[in-house]
Amino acid sequence: MAAHSTSHSASSFLVIVSLAVLVIFTGSSSAKLSTNFYSKRCPKVFSTVQSVVHSAISKQPRQGASLLRLHFHDCFVNGCDGSVLLDDTPTFRGEKTAGPNNGSIRAFEVVDEIKSKVEKECPGVVSCADILAIAARDSVKILGGPKWDVKLGRRDSKTASLSAANSGVIPPPTSTLSNLINRFKAKGLSTKDMVALSGAHTIGQARCTVFRDRIYKDKNIDSSFAKTRQNKCPKTTGLPGDNKIAPLDLQTPTAFDNYYYKNLIKQKGLLRSDQQLFNGGSTDSLVKKYSQDTKTFYSDFVNAMIKMGDIQPLTGSSGEIRKNCRKVNK
Ligand code: HEM
Ligand SMILES: *[C@@H]1O[C@H](CO)[C@@H](O)[C@H](O)[C@H]1NC(C)=O
Repeated sequence: MAAHSTSHSASSFLVIVSLAVLVIFTGSSSAKLSTNFYSKRCPKVFSTVQSVVHSAISKQPRQGASLLRLHFHDCFVNGCDGSVLLDDTPTFRGEKTAGPNNGSIRAFEVVDEIKSKVEKECPGVVSCADILAIAARDSVKILGGPKWDVKLGRRDSKTASLSAANSGVIPPPTSTLSNLINRFKAKGLSTKDMVALSGAHTIGQARCTVFRDRIYKDKNIDSSFAKTRQNKCPKTTGLPGDNKIAPLDLQTPTAFDNYYYKNLIKQKGLLRSDQQLFNGGSTDSLVKKYSQDTKTFYSDFVNAMIKMGDIQPLTGSSGEIRKNCRKVNK
């Protein structure tokens, strides 16, 4: 009898332990993002976001590139939590003036417009972090790239980290291939993801200050391309020259296609970090593949975007749903 009751209590102990484990695990798996997160809560969110993104891009195609980059810079600094959108205040410095962001990230007015429209339809429901993910997806689609179902359910941070944004988690344009690989690996992204995501540079612009050394000093660059870029990017540092811009993809800077990779094969990458992907190293074969096969590029890009959008989201009751993407709620 004694033996029986011991084994009975041992087995109830086991049941309790396994229940606790289950609770812990489902607790963290309720943290999963899902494509239908707003289907009851805000059914029109997709059409609202898309119409604002569409009109912003028709006025200025670069806005699509800027929106895509915002999502990347959000996700790489303490996860996809809208932190990049917080304005500085007299008592708080956020991420906007960090090295990779200052004078560089843009399209905040587009995000504001999306947010105010969405707030009118569903007050307090849709996070700024999710708006960035949807706007990035829509931008790619509108500029002729692939479509995908975007996962949602992220919440917004109550803070931002200038020091994290400056720590090198966002790799600089002077990065070597191994630094690029390691920085993406640190976020759970593979080398393939890194090469595919870099294809985002098939749209958008960069400032002279980030490609000056490349066009004046590098050897692994097509010389006529370097000359063309030198025309608008003076050798000497200083304003206004530093802020002159050039397209990351010289052929089709407002079309989401695979010209970025075709350029790399001709040594016409604008950033040093771009050309690192095709410079005799381990990623050459993938660049070649993407330059010849848009379908594979698209499907690897989509996979990698979904993975990037999954970096450390705030879910459940963490964080908040900001009313204004630039400020934490009072
Ligand atoms: C692989 C490492 C990466 C490096 C070193 C890098 C670096 C840069 C730099 C230096 C610029 C120009 C900024 C300026 O001059 O103001 C830029 C622009 C851009 N980046 Fe990246 N980037 C990387 C990856 C990514 C990823 C993963 C995405 C998105 C998925 C992305 C999207 C963009 C876009 C769209 C632009 C143009 C933005 C605009 O025109 O407003 N980049 N990047
Ligand atoms: C940010 O850029 C502005 C000019 O665009 C400059 O005046 C300011 O010093 C920069 N801030 C930092 C922290 O680098």
